[in-house]
Amino acid sequence: MVRRVLVTGGNRGIGLAIVHRCLSDHGDTHVVLACRSASRGEDAVAALITERPDWKARLTVLEIDTSSDGSVRAAAATLEGSCGNPALYAIVNNAGIASGTVAEILNVNVRGPKRVDDAFGPLLDPLEGRVVQISSGAASGCVSRSSPDMAAFFTNASVSWREISGLLEAVEANPDLEAHGIGAAMGAYGLSKALLNAYAMALARERPELKVNACSPGMVATDIMGSFLPWWVPLPNAAVRFLATKLAGAKTPDEGTVSALHLLFSEELEGNGRYYGSDAKRSPLDRYRSPGSPPYAGP
Ligand SMILES: NC(=O)c1ccc[n+]([C@@H]2O[C@H](COP(=O)([O-])OP(=O)(O)OC[C@H]3O[C@@H](n4cnc5c(N)ncnc54)[C@H](OP(=O)(O)O)[C@@H]3O)[C@@H](O)[C@H]2O)c1
Repeated sequence: MVRRVLVTGGNRGIGLAIVHRCLSDHGDTHVVLACRSASRGEDAVAALITERPDWKARLTVLEIDTSSDGSVRAAAATLEGSCGNPALYAIVNNAGIASGTVAEILNVNVRGPKRVDDAFGPLLDPLEGRVVQISSGAASGCVSRSSPDMAAFFTNASVSWREISGLLEAVEANPDLEAHGIGAAMGAYGLSKALLNAYAMALARERPELKVNACSPGMVATDIMGSFLPWWVPLPNAAVRFLATKLAGAKTPDEGTVSALHLLFSEELEGNGRYYGSDAKRSPLDRYRSPGSPPYAGP
């Protein structure tokens, strides 16, 4: 039985590395490489099948702009039309941004995964389906800098999407994070990932038949790093990736797949709606746990 895995933002960076690992390490998978530009997706597929021509039969490009309801719904209809139901073993919500307005970051990093899960969730195998939310250590940075009330919100295991959506609307209306008691961590990026972790808990409760979890890839040398530089440091992405690797010890995209692959394929996943560090060990939502230190064992 083929396990079909959808990876958003699968054309480059960590998403492409997850696609590569699925193909190389899990021979029973078919990867739906989702990306907002079909041509960039085809370029990524061309590079993959240059390396391994036999992967061609195990790859499909699906155009999805996760910031758009229409694009996501149309893509889900296309997939269902071609594969039937259940069409999917897993969804990896990897597409993400770290630059733009607060509303744009929240739209792609929080509303995007929700959109994708709403549209593609019904296509998941109810017996063994999984959802992996690609979060970030910046999430706990946001929680630890937030007011006690907001920290309680981000870590509330009973949080609902309605409550998350209420906070999104409040921040979209007034993007001054401090006014809401929200700690800035890499600007609004940390907030977006703290809300993504909260949403993972909500979705896990809503769909207990699935395995829904979030993870950090760690610090990985990809193009997104350039987003964290001030505008007056206009370095090309390749230079940023090089410096991040040499000076800050950033990992390769492949090294950044460890936790996502664990959440995708491990038979020993305990619990649901949890957050994992880049070493594939459980981590708390409100403080940073260094990879290699004891796993979080709290509620
Ligand atoms: N790199 C790190 O250190 C790090 C650390 C923690 C978490 N993360 C998370 O890891 C994930 C992948 O990031 P990355 O480091 O691989 O960054 P990246 O190289 O910049 O890749 C981002 C990917 O997201 C896609 N994307 C952005 N907006 C999209 C949209 N509206 N619709 C569909 N696709 C969209 C991009 O597509 P285009 O090619 O079309 O732009 C690209 O494929 C993100 O969620 C990021 O927050 C990264």
